Amino acid sequence: MDINKKTLSIAIMSGKGGVGKTNISLNLAYALYELNNSAILMDCDLGLANLDVLLGVTPEKNLQDLLEPDIQAKDVVVSLESPNLDFLPAATGVPELANWDSDIQSVLLEKLNDFFQNYKYLLLDLGAGINNTVTILATMTHLKCVVITPEPTSLTDSYALIKILSSQRNVKDFLIIVNMVKNKREGEQAFKRLQMACEHFLGIKITLLGIILRDSAVTKAVLSQTPLCKLEPNSKAYKNIKKIALKINKISATIPSPINSALNIYLLNQK
Ligand SMILES: Nc1ncnc2c1ncn2[C@@H]1O[C@H](COP(=O)(O)OP(=O)(O)O)[C@@H](O)[C@H]1O
Ligand SMILES: [Mg+2]
Repeated sequence: MDINKKTLSIAIMSGKGGVGKTNISLNLAYALYELNNSAILMDCDLGLANLDVLLGVTPEKNLQDLLEPDIQAKDVVVSLESPNLDFLPAATGVPELANWDSDIQSVLLEKLNDFFQNYKYLLLDLGAGINNTVTILATMTHLKCVVITPEPTSLTDSYALIKILSSQRNVKDFLIIVNMVKNKREGEQAFKRLQMACEHFLGIKITLLGIILRDSAVTKAVLSQTPLCKLEPNSKAYKNIKKIALKINKISATIPSPINSALNIYLLNQK
């Protein structure tokens, strides 16, 4: 293993569902790839896995198959762009996976962690709200992105998510993406409201990572099961996502010491 290699892991999460996590993870993975990075996109929404639907692919195997001793990550992974852009599908409706217990965690993560080192970026599309899987994976990743929309329910639910992760897991460094806004100002205002609540009640400073406009091109991409970046590469929403990818590239360049593990697995045992 090349110890100078850095894999930066990015968790995409949210308080409530339907805010755009899956579309953002998918297009962000493509945008990072278009900037000449290798990337792997992992479906971690173990209850409602749907990245495969948005990609229009039918994977032969998924995360659950990895629990078999002779199945390795390379047997499960689906190539999106060859080489360097891959997808790791999840199983839908598998109760034992929806809430990882510690045995499943160690089997899966130990098999995956070395494999992840083949990529510059690891993107995790997490389920909405708080469950065991979200808590574990959010704690182990380098960048913790919370997707919000300007809706009041999104703000209260993301505040609750941040509160739980910060108080129970000591996660303090949240990056916020505001999605489905009518203009930049609406996005900034939504961010400010969440920022004030987090600072005032939790003593946490959150950072605005990007703003994505509400754009009918996203709906079109969902309906045609084709990634937005392929269907409408010049759409406003994809341009907004490309800007976020550039920022992430900048962030990764400023991380001083080599990252030797895609996921901080040692944190698993810190309950
Ligand atoms: N920027 C956007 N503009 C318009 N519609 C969007 C945008 N982002 C997401 N959507 C819509 O919201 C729906 C939910 O998005 P999805 O990515 O599945 O959310 P989540 O993964 O958070 O549940 C999608 O069907 C899509 O049509
Ligand atoms: Mg989703």
